[in-house]
Amino acid sequence: MHGKRILLGITGGIAAYKIAFLVRILKKKGAEVKCIMTPASSDFISPLVLATLSENPVGIEFWDKKTGVWTNHVEYGLWADLFVVAPLTANSIAKMATGSCDNLLLASYFSMKCPTLIAPAMDLDMYAHPSTKRNLEQLQKDGVGIIPAESGELASGLVGEGRMAEPETIASAIENFFANHTTSITQSLIGKKVLVTAGPTYEAIDPVRFIGNHSSGKMGFAIVEELLAQGAQVELVCGPTKLSLNHPNLKFTSIKTAEEMLHSVQGKWAKMDVGIFSAAVADYRPKHSAIQKIKKTEDDLTIELVKNPDILAWAGSNKTEQQLLVGFALETNDVFVNAKSKLERKNLDLIIMNTLEDRGAGFAGDTNKISILDNHNKFTSFELKSKSEVAKDIVEYLINYRK
Ligand code: CTP
Repeated sequence: MHGKRILLGITGGIAAYKIAFLVRILKKKGAEVKCIMTPASSDFISPLVLATLSENPVGIEFWDKKTGVWTNHVEYGLWADLFVVAPLTANSIAKMATGSCDNLLLASYFSMKCPTLIAPAMDLDMYAHPSTKRNLEQLQKDGVGIIPAESGELASGLVGEGRMAEPETIASAIENFFANHTTSITQSLIGKKVLVTAGPTYEAIDPVRFIGNHSSGKMGFAIVEELLAQGAQVELVCGPTKLSLNHPNLKFTSIKTAEEMLHSVQGKWAKMDVGIFSAAVADYRPKHSAIQKIKKTEDDLTIELVKNPDILAWAGSNKTEQQLLVGFALETNDVFVNAKSKLERKNLDLIIMNTLEDRGAGFAGDTNKISILDNHNKFTSFELKSKSEVAKDIVEYLINYRK
């Protein structure tokens, strides 16, 4: 972030007091920071605090009534590498979405040459209101990145979704933006919500041992990156992995077992437009997980296994007309026949096949060779490619797929 110019816009919500901490974090990371505020926000945090911490004057009004000096919003637009509005109230969201321009902050937004990230903050009913949702969707279509509000205690005393993301979360979203910024005008999945499962599951035998598999999560992460690049809002439910990813439009849920993955998916699926299930879920788990480490005694040890829930099949049997569901099949023989039967059994729209018979395809490697079978019986084979190129092929297929 060193030397990056970040323009922080502050609107009138109680979370404005937290922006002092955000300014400190950004300054410590070497960024140049300037603040512009709506007049209402100065009731929640003193401009003096922000001017002192940012080491720059704070813009509030178009012009200073005493001196007659005009604050040039166009200059802010030319100066910044990134415009971040946090907290962003329902009122200012509506104004940004509809082109209303009655203060310096809004005039600056409409003059921005750089991308804009926003961190909404409001009470839960306001956040859930259809008009707020509509306005946020409009901003996303306009290319604005959204750092979603979080769940928790609200200033009203109510508990729910609407709290501004914490300053650390906003700072890491900003860092991620500069590390790997994906904002482009050709994004095809803006406004779409996609659920991805990835990685292995670990099924406990005792406190120190488990049944697992070699899945690295690499294919799932590559798909998530491509979905984010296309503007989607992604929920990733992932088993144990060394990989990590931060992005304002990504919510990450870490699970260990198939049952935990199922519960997480069950809580999210109804709100999703698309599901891509790339996780290598253990088909069976030990019937009993020992509370203490199993000691070696006999020569033979038998572990009784029971079937795990089929998460993909659950999503398929709870799928609406509008939802698209994509599954994976890792087959070692009769690839096409097995994949077709899986597509039908689990009520999928697409199934991605890979086979361990292909050199370079599989769990831990960086390459994969896939074929896609869709619900219209169309079968497409792809060359051996890097997992990120395979992810591009899958996401492109999905974008062009019509039910
Ligand atoms: N899957 C899942 N939950 C499970 C097992 C699998 O969600 N308990 C998903 C995987 O994420 C993948 C697809 O189902 O998208 C295929 O998994 P696979 O294990 O190959 O298929 P099965 O249906 O288990 O078939 P079989 O064991 O007969 O190969």
